[in-house]
Amino acid sequence: MKLFILLLTFCALCRPCEISVAAGTNAFVPANPPEMKPLTDRTSPAHRTARLFQHGVNLGNYLEAPSDWGVRVSAGEFDQMHAEGFDHIRVPVGWHRHTGPGPDFIISPDFFGQVDFVVTNAFASHLAVLVNLHHFGEFDTNPVESTDRLLALWRQIAAHYAKFPPTLAFELLNEPHDHATTTVVNPIYARVLTDIRQTNPNRTLFVEPGNWGNIDELKNLVLPAADDNLIVSVHCYEPFRFTHQGAGWSGPDVKVQGIQFPGPPATPLVPDPALKLNPWVAEWIQNYNTLPTEKNPSSPAAFTGRLKLAHEWSEHYGRPVHVGEFGCYTKADPESRVRFYAAIRRTLEEQKLGWAVWDWSGSFRYWDKRKNEPVSGMREALFGK
Ligand code: BGC
Repeated sequence: MKLFILLLTFCALCRPCEISVAAGTNAFVPANPPEMKPLTDRTSPAHRTARLFQHGVNLGNYLEAPSDWGVRVSAGEFDQMHAEGFDHIRVPVGWHRHTGPGPDFIISPDFFGQVDFVVTNAFASHLAVLVNLHHFGEFDTNPVESTDRLLALWRQIAAHYAKFPPTLAFELLNEPHDHATTTVVNPIYARVLTDIRQTNPNRTLFVEPGNWGNIDELKNLVLPAADDNLIVSVHCYEPFRFTHQGAGWSGPDVKVQGIQFPGPPATPLVPDPALKLNPWVAEWIQNYNTLPTEKNPSSPAAFTGRLKLAHEWSEHYGRPVHVGEFGCYTKADPESRVRFYAAIRRTLEEQKLGWAVWDWSGSFRYWDKRKNEPVSGMREALFGK
């Protein structure tokens, strides 16, 4: 029964397989609605803060988890994060799970205490901190009906941290999706920003487009022109069938395991016929088995064009872009994982995008808690020359 509930929870979190072709390889054409005004100042408060949020790590599977997912974080670990080379942490937080009833939705002081533990220890270890609102599924299903609740949460969080140093940033919503499209969330973000600015006029705020923070959604974003302290957060899990192979919460199309990075494999991968793959997955595997690396769906071709697009969009609109999540589940073979992290990190840096890897010690881990050291090869992948 417990397993069943866990599976249901995972399915509810399921991110659809993103298209795996390289996007944005052609010349960038600005296409946002005319209300999205390009900003010209490259020394804006957001640009200055972005420099503090370059190489981060997500404290995943911890304060956002609906039940105990087994991640423990001790005060000493923040020093380890900093010593590894991370300059910030992204803290996914399930605030909505720890409140009293509406209309006030009072956040439990005990839960604030748990988040404060993370924030203050991270500061003590010289890490900047990005706190978000994660897995607020009711909002994705009913964004308009859930807006008051979103506002009530952010008013409290903003008031609680109003006096904290500027190295604390807030991210309004993780991966809006479903009915929470970019177009629907644009005016809702504007309302939340107005409220947060009452108590935190100078704090840097991160906003994420719809379709799970998809880079292709940047073109639909409309940000208030008068607010120059906003960073845009996007996520990139391409090549999804490689990074999410065996991820039970990501639907039937990622069941095939044994996919290496980069392809093609020395010996073709022959999926078990019992998996009854959808035709588009079978075709993907066929391409993976046969195409040369530069065109292979399990290769940097899956993310290079997208990340280039994010960079070009950022340059055009004068808004820093941060890649708040990328990573690979531990079901991929360890050598491929390391090659993947090294390749995407290189591309992120070529495109001058700040990043936060998913995750510290959860199921996409950087850190091996049992050995008290990074998973083999990960330090070189993220911080090597
Ligand atoms: C989710 C995690 C998941 C990760 C990779 C995150 O946004 O919160 O639960 O493991 O994406 O799919």
